[in-house]
Amino acid sequence: MKTQLFCITIFFYAVSIEGETDLCTFNSTISELPTTWFYSTVDQVKLCFENIPVNNVIMNETMKQLFNSLDFYSFLSIVRQSNHPYFTNVNLREELLNIVDQTNRNMYKNDYEFHMNIVNCFKKLKDFHTKYFAPNGYAKFELLLPFILEFQPLTKQIKVKLGINLYSSIIGNNLNLNYTDRIITKIDGMNALEYMKQFAENYSFMSKDKSVRLNSVFREEFWLRNLAQYPLPIKNNITFTFLDSIQDKNESTITFSYLILITKKFDNQRSLEDDNHLLSSSFLETRLVFNYIINLEKLHWYQHQKDSNFDFVMGGNDTYYYIHKPTQTVIIRLGSFNEETFEDVKMIFSTAIGKTLIIDLVGNHGGESCLAYSLLNYLVPEYSSLRLLYEPIDARTTTPLFFFSSIFSLYANSILDIRTGLSFTNMDWIKPYVNYTRGGSTDEYSMKWS
Ligand SMILES: *[C@@H]1O[C@H](CO)[C@@H](O)[C@H](O)[C@H]1NC(C)=O
Ligand SMILES: *[C@@H]1O[C@H](CO)[C@@H](O)[C@H](O)[C@H]1NC(C)=O
Ligand SMILES: *[C@@H]1O[C@H](CO)[C@@H](O)[C@H](O)[C@H]1NC(C)=O
Ligand SMILES: *[C@@H]1O[C@H](CO)[C@@H](O)[C@H](O)[C@H]1NC(C)=O
Ligand SMILES: *[C@@H]1O[C@H](CO)[C@@H](O)[C@H](O)[C@H]1NC(C)=O
Ligand SMILES: *[C@@H]1O[C@H](CO)[C@@H](O)[C@H](O)[C@H]1NC(C)=O
Ligand SMILES: *[C@@H]1O[C@H](CO)[C@@H](O)[C@H](O)[C@H]1NC(C)=O
Ligand SMILES: *[C@@H]1O[C@H](CO)[C@@H](O)[C@H](O)[C@H]1NC(C)=O
Repeated sequence: MKTQLFCITIFFYAVSIEGETDLCTFNSTISELPTTWFYSTVDQVKLCFENIPVNNVIMNETMKQLFNSLDFYSFLSIVRQSNHPYFTNVNLREELLNIVDQTNRNMYKNDYEFHMNIVNCFKKLKDFHTKYFAPNGYAKFELLLPFILEFQPLTKQIKVKLGINLYSSIIGNNLNLNYTDRIITKIDGMNALEYMKQFAENYSFMSKDKSVRLNSVFREEFWLRNLAQYPLPIKNNITFTFLDSIQDKNESTITFSYLILITKKFDNQRSLEDDNHLLSSSFLETRLVFNYIINLEKLHWYQHQKDSNFDFVMGGNDTYYYIHKPTQTVIIRLGSFNEETFEDVKMIFSTAIGKTLIIDLVGNHGGESCLAYSLLNYLVPEYSSLRLLYEPIDARTTTPLFFFSSIFSLYANSILDIRTGLSFTNMDWIKPYVNYTRGGSTDEYSMKWS
């Protein structure tokens, strides 16, 4: 009887602790944010993430799936020893075995640390298309910095392109806005350009090309980081050193707190863990936040110029069509090659008129390459006679493939059978197809591949 009473007491004690001090309650409100978004600080998020324990079943299942996926990773030997110009040398299987070894030796202090180790391991490939995202709950957290920086190629200096308004409105202090156009000499005490290069080296997976990585860091990866893909910083803040006057070389230093935007309300640790376990990771979260800030700051180039020489004609935030009035130059901005923007793209291409066409692809988020090739073929039919570029696909009879090919007519010889090295000349090759399950998902595949 006595023992039973003791147990009950402990039970109540545990519940009341959880009720009062759950470290993963993120529900702060601020009017500048969309209604479903919240914000927090690095310390608080760190406390929450550190509190989520490792789970042996999750670690075991995760590693098992990763080893399974290695069997389908066609570039395994290439990344082990690639040639000119990148000389990649990553033994991915070994890397994963190391992680298994760490899990067996209980080296991971928490679940987040385990997942971030896998993230880092995949980052070594420096391949935008082969990455690992920590689970969906963590993907709702987005680190925001006070500035967007810009590299000045002539002087090799870094300047503040702008102070981010969303940042100042959340912390209730617009100090960061005062530094627009100022030259930054150091970040956290290190030469600023050196810092950015290191950052690109340490964290960017954008490309194997150093310059592409550095550009990508300036464009987005430095100032907006999804915590499922970039680690929580060690410190709570970041220090910038500004040049006060060029003649005297006087400098001043100022420290800004990192801010964390959370795109979903979490009442407690349990709800975050549920998102981690039950939902697949969303790749769209950063896009959502990035687009929100870009719109808020009016950073779309045409929006800057709207009142003067440019006329916006049609499209959405990411993919649109505008005209430079004095020269009647048509500019089509393609932000991505996804199904979602497809109707916009189709409408724009069939409507656009003018003497000169510029297709602006800077910073596009990729998508289905068959759309890109189909568009190219639509614009430059002569291109079809080039036999060098193919669309190697894994034989999944994807909707986009049918969709794009029926609209812009996929050109002959555009699809390569990577097993035989031969190309296909029509779409019949796809049929008949069968259902086939790979990595837990069932899709229709061409018979030729099953
Ligand atoms: C956040 O949630 C906690 C616990 O549910 C509550 O006490 C607090 O008032 C909420 N804060 C806001 C800003 O809604
Ligand atoms: C998962 O657990 C099983 C049983 O303990 C073990 O045999 C296997 O090696 C583990 N797999 C990984 C990838 O850790
Ligand atoms: C920003 O600069 C202006 C003028 O230089 C100054 O009056 C203002 O106090 C500064 N704001 C902050 C927050 O330092
Ligand atoms: C990059 O990684 C190295 C090695 O871990 C570390 O010493 C350095 O501080 C990192 N640099 C940045 C800018 O994060
Ligand atoms: C910056 O953060 C560190 C630890 O994260 C803290 O010790 C330091 O006081 C902070 N500096 C400022 C100026 O807030
Ligand atoms: C630069 O610093 C020196 C010494 O601290 C000071 O005398 C001078 O006035 C400063 N110049 C400017 C432009 O602030
Ligand atoms: C553009 O972005 C804003 C803000 O995120 C959003 O409200 C609007 O619906 C978007 N418009 C289109 C056409 O996608
Ligand atoms: C594949 O499975 C889907 C969904 O179960 C079904 O609609 C489709 O007809 C199947 N296709 C073939 C070729 O069996």
